[in-house]
Amino acid sequence: MMTSVLVTGGAGFIGSHACKALSRAGYRPIAYDSLETGHRDAVLWGPLVVGDIADRALLGAAIATHRPVAIMHFAAYAYVGESVREPARYYRNNVGGTLALLETAASHGVEHIVFSSSCATYGVPDAMPILETTPQRPINPYGRTKLIGEVMLRDFCSSGAMRHVALRYFNAAGADPEGALAERHDPETHLIPRALMAAAGAIPALEIFGGDYPTPDGTCIRDYIHVSDLADAHVAALDYLLAGGSSTALNIGTGTGHSVRDILSGIEALTGRAVPSILHPRRAGDPPMLVADPRRAREILGFSPRHSDLGTILATAARSFGLRRAA
Ligand code: UFG
Repeated sequence: MMTSVLVTGGAGFIGSHACKALSRAGYRPIAYDSLETGHRDAVLWGPLVVGDIADRALLGAAIATHRPVAIMHFAAYAYVGESVREPARYYRNNVGGTLALLETAASHGVEHIVFSSSCATYGVPDAMPILETTPQRPINPYGRTKLIGEVMLRDFCSSGAMRHVALRYFNAAGADPEGALAERHDPETHLIPRALMAAAGAIPALEIFGGDYPTPDGTCIRDYIHVSDLADAHVAALDYLLAGGSSTALNIGTGTGHSVRDILSGIEALTGRAVPSILHPRRAGDPPMLVADPRRAREILGFSPRHSDLGTILATAARSFGLRRAA
């Protein structure tokens, strides 16, 4: 019988790509998703259980039925700005939901958890690139809920009955290179999809949030990691835990930063279309630069990105918006 893995948020952007990677690696992904932001049609590699992570009875029943060897926990709210406006929702879902999940997992004897954490837990670091030992001082409720998730996991795992890997993602982008899944969020706030929407004429212009940052071209720098690489990092983390690896937290990035303007010129070069843009004031809570030191994930998991050069990220994301490579 195939080994099952329960994937909370398995119908979401990153979770659905992880289900594909799990299936390719020989696991049976069981997607568990409320469908509040996930998409039923993104669940292609195993069953879907529609439910909330806070529903302990349903979650317990799913675990009892499918007997997963591990849980990959993606289900969470992930909009920084919204977390500032509506902190209670974020604490309820990301913290309360994760607590319900961990208690249910522990009571059913699940021993392995791979957790979606974020570079947002670092806040505005003093030095670049960011190491796993860089102090975690989040500057918004979203980042704080992810940090609390990590802390809860450490406490739940301290007895040794459970082990976890917390993956601190940098900027997830792109879409399945084989075209089975798209990059989509609703509402769409992320830079690469919005810039592609501007190139496609779906929005009038990309708003550049701040041109006066202390960076070479004045716009913010981020470390973009292809979603399929992120998905592979989860499978590598799972294999590490199943081989007896101890609990840890790892950055998942490339070590290379790109500015907002780099993204716009990359899209123009790829599609042959201009990306209309307007310079706006800074967006509250945006650190000027976030770039990972990715060495620890390579050492511990043997993980290195394969699809995260900017050209591949942009080309795979562009397909989600009906844009093609210029001839
Ligand atoms: N940006 C624009 N215009 C836009 C959208 C974004 O200029 O329309 C800029 C932002 O100011 C930022 C960069 O592009 O400098 C990237 O912005 P995204 O919204 O794409 O990504 P963030 O870096 O803000 O957020 C991502 C994840 C969060 C996570 C965060 C960690 O989406 O979940 O990284 O910092 F918390």
